[in-house]
Amino acid sequence: MEKDRVRAALLHWYDAHGRTLAWRSPPGAPAPDPYRVWLSEVMLQQTTTPHATPYFERFTARWPTVSDLAVAEDAEVMAAWAGLGYYARARNLLACARAVAERHGGVFPDTEAELLALPGVGAYTAAAVAAIAFGRPSNVVDGNVERVVARLFAVETPLPVAKPELRRLAGRLVDEDRPGDWAQALMDLGATVCRPGRPVCDRCPLPSWCAGFQSGAPERYPVRPAKTARPHRTGVAWVLRDAHGRVGLVQRPEKGLLGGMLGLPTSDWSGTATPPQAPAATGWREAGAVEHVFTHFSLTLTVLEGVGDADLLWTEPEAALKALPTVFRKALERALG
Ligand code: ADE
Repeated sequence: MEKDRVRAALLHWYDAHGRTLAWRSPPGAPAPDPYRVWLSEVMLQQTTTPHATPYFERFTARWPTVSDLAVAEDAEVMAAWAGLGYYARARNLLACARAVAERHGGVFPDTEAELLALPGVGAYTAAAVAAIAFGRPSNVVDGNVERVVARLFAVETPLPVAKPELRRLAGRLVDEDRPGDWAQALMDLGATVCRPGRPVCDRCPLPSWCAGFQSGAPERYPVRPAKTARPHRTGVAWVLRDAHGRVGLVQRPEKGLLGGMLGLPTSDWSGTATPPQAPAATGWREAGAVEHVFTHFSLTLTVLEGVGDADLLWTEPEAALKALPTVFRKALERALG
């Protein structure tokens, strides 16, 4: 692999075709604010750029610096995160902002090792912030980069076993020159050209070096392990309204799925066979069911609605819709019609 020529071709492509995103500086411009880089990388770990962008805009308007975020109320940040998923991230986000404020005087540290020592900052985020915000030649490997590299080198090892090999191969292309642009060029190529399903190889700057392209079946890479089915679970969600029309919510336990978030009262849906315990004795009416897909299982929640009193967090429906994670928002919408 001719490293210099591959890098020049991809960086040249990035200069012309890189995406304009809210948290980026244009290619060649001074590096963006580390706070914005960090925030965007945390948000983007499990969601797409179109979905993350309005959240990013709202967060940075409300909390323009890491020190502003550090003094925010937990509940406010959790509510602003609702809909982004992976709620442990929102808690880690706050823990990290507070650590930057307390340990580093509100200034993000500028090395991968110090970034990695912050709460909730894993190898990917540390590498991405070091490269994009601080110009460090770190090896930034996300799913997009893995796919690009798997195709470029036609890696036959299936995921996830291939991960260390893909990381090593990606590292061979890293250089002191424009590390942030390099990382984001790989990501953009993966998102827009070297796409998961059908790569658009006639728009790629790298076909002459791409073993996947030359194999005639680049979409075969990265090789996937044989599929195992996602388990399906079922449960009940109760939408209890009080005499004022408010909705009864609960705060979910800190540990576990959607930990610490607001939720509707639900039955156990973990697969154990406890009988459903309604939050109040009332005439329940079935409002339908909603489907939701989590990483490790899919869920059908039957929505029951009723009017009554119980020891719950009584919330106006519009406020509840804003603060609830997606699965509960869907259930509440079903009950509200
Ligand atoms: N996905 C995660 N981080 C990204 C970034 N900085 N640019 C584009 N896509 C990304």
